[in-house]
Amino acid sequence: MINNDIKEAAQIIRNGGLVAFPTETVYGLGANALNPLAVAKIFELKERPSFDPLIVHIASLDTLKELTSDITDNVYRLAEKFWPGPLTIVLPKSNIVPDIVTSGLPTVGIRMPNNEIALNLIKESKCPIAAPSANKFGQLSPVKASHVKKQLPSVDYILDGGRTTVGLESTIVAVKGNECQLLRPGFITFEDIEKALPNTFIFNQSKPENLVSPGLLKSHYSPKKPLYFIQQLDVSLPDLSGVIAHGKKGKNIEAKRVIYTSDNFDKVQIAANLFSALHLMEEDESIKQIFIEPVEEMGLGIAIMDRLRKAAYRYQVEL
Ligand code: TXA
Ligand code: MG
Repeated sequence: MINNDIKEAAQIIRNGGLVAFPTETVYGLGANALNPLAVAKIFELKERPSFDPLIVHIASLDTLKELTSDITDNVYRLAEKFWPGPLTIVLPKSNIVPDIVTSGLPTVGIRMPNNEIALNLIKESKCPIAAPSANKFGQLSPVKASHVKKQLPSVDYILDGGRTTVGLESTIVAVKGNECQLLRPGFITFEDIEKALPNTFIFNQSKPENLVSPGLLKSHYSPKKPLYFIQQLDVSLPDLSGVIAHGKKGKNIEAKRVIYTSDNFDKVQIAANLFSALHLMEEDESIKQIFIEPVEEMGLGIAIMDRLRKAAYRYQVEL
């Protein structure tokens, strides 16, 4: 159903404005992807460097055909299995995609989000929507409308769709011939992609120094106070510490504040609650530093640890 809020937001998109909207992963900061001036406003509001390309959100496969070329059987397989959903597919771009969207790259990342408000906004706007996560560059990703308001108070419109369900940004893959390169880990895991593309060579981004995907920057998704990993939680912590843990069993944590992302290390729950927990600790003035328990790096744990390492990177102590 297209309600008045979506109509109003779509009008803003059509007029070249910016709308923050929910997806199943995180909130996006959207503009008409075919309007370079509107897209430029995204970079300005986010204070995002111009070398960091945007993901274009679509609501139908027809739009994929207009925006890209080289749509192979593998692309259709991925789209059929995972769209709408948290997977971004990078393909050669067509001429109608402005260079500002792709930061000058010949490719464009496309995703069909699994969120009714997002899909209706795209349909009602009658254009594909370019959208990065709706946060200031380098800071925590928003999973609630209030997180967007905190970081981007001057955005033209925020569509409030409550808390997002997945909680981590989409998995990004580049599909070329019989190869599929995983550029950013996410809710859809390496194993999920392997199963969907049985006769394809699937590999991880191997050379971070050749920054194909700026999402590979070492520091990203950072809270505004120090974040450290901690293995042993029953130790004495500095005063005014916050602790984020992922399982309650057998723990005796003494800290100013403790937030559990899950009762029992359920990775889907941890992913869904991770950014909210970090936002809560960031907002809590009685907390001076945050300690977080690591997660086993298997399956979805790979994406969770990818985000956490980047969030903690700038607070690491050089040894
Ligand atoms: O779940 C998501 O993907 C969210 C929601 C809003 O859809 N969006 C998101 O966008 O996480 P953003 O801007 O925070 O991250 C986009 C990343 C870029 O930093 C870059 O790493 C990668 O997507 N990317 C986009 N276009 C690319 C391209 N043509 N080649 C390689 N990487 C690309
Ligand atoms: Mg982001």
